[in-house]
Amino acid sequence: MSLALTAHAQSTDKVVVAHRGASGYLPEHTLEAKAMAYAMGADYIEQDVVMTRDDQLIVIHDITLDRTTNVADKFPGRARADGSHYAVDFTLAEIQSLDVTEGFSVENGVRTLNYPQRFPLFTSSFKVHTLAQEIELIQGLNHSTGKNIGIYPELKSPAFHLAEGKDLGRAVLETLKRYGYTSKQDKVFVQTFEFDELKRVHDELQPALGIELNLVMLLDGGDENAWMQTEDGIRQIAQYADGLGPEKGMIIDRESPRGAPRISGLVGFAHAAGLQVHPYTFRLDEGHVPDYATSFEDMLKLFYVDAGVDGVFTDFPDRAVAFLNNL
Ligand code: G3P
Ligand code: CA
Repeated sequence: MSLALTAHAQSTDKVVVAHRGASGYLPEHTLEAKAMAYAMGADYIEQDVVMTRDDQLIVIHDITLDRTTNVADKFPGRARADGSHYAVDFTLAEIQSLDVTEGFSVENGVRTLNYPQRFPLFTSSFKVHTLAQEIELIQGLNHSTGKNIGIYPELKSPAFHLAEGKDLGRAVLETLKRYGYTSKQDKVFVQTFEFDELKRVHDELQPALGIELNLVMLLDGGDENAWMQTEDGIRQIAQYADGLGPEKGMIIDRESPRGAPRISGLVGFAHAAGLQVHPYTFRLDEGHVPDYATSFEDMLKLFYVDAGVDGVFTDFPDRAVAFLNNL
């Protein structure tokens, strides 16, 4: 694959965020999936960040290890009362001894891939890595290719971590600073679903570290945070953030009929408030292209062109890069 041929064209400012890497093709949040996303020409590569018992930052989506590793086999008796194995209860060495796989569910003791067409369960060899290891991979590739691909770390469940005595937000920002991410000119967006943490990052943590990064408020469309989905709520978010990361059904009603997408006012409100908009998550697995779109590319066109979003999170970065290159 030629990097030159797959690199995102510079004719548009719109971006592709590789969601958990090229996770449609390789197990999510593995270094292999990140290298593949890089080669596919993604503009940003996402890291979901969680802390271990010994205060190390790891790249994994869930605060539990069960969906993507063999922790239940390897560490019997280490689950909490709810039956889950929490990363904060394990050291980095213990976690790095686990095998990693694409996400699965367990029913009657049988493990099944959540996306049946994706990388086969527990085949080949994949491991959990640290945030620092992933940044070194991306910065190393930036050095060897001459490109400047960005990172997009998410603070996962910061309130949960604080309740466990772990300041995830501070540790992530310290790591970013250590690797040279200090200003809004640096290619990084720091994202979170928790508004209180967004404010803490903006008002306390960044000033204490002397850094000022691009921040993104994630929205899941739930009733609990309904105030954030209003024009006034978005103006409040804009006091702290540079971007909005909404669930894509908040922009186009997923029940819209074919050929008649109902586009909400969210992107307009966000742009008026000075926020970029990066909805999630664009998948082409069976059942994941809504009925209102004729194809994955039609869905991309409805969002990038008709709704006017600035970027998308996708498990299939090659397809979004190709789409933008053909705009
Ligand atoms: O962070 C954007 C998107 O990744 C949010 O969804 O649950 O995959 O982290 P999630
Ligand atoms: Ca995420």
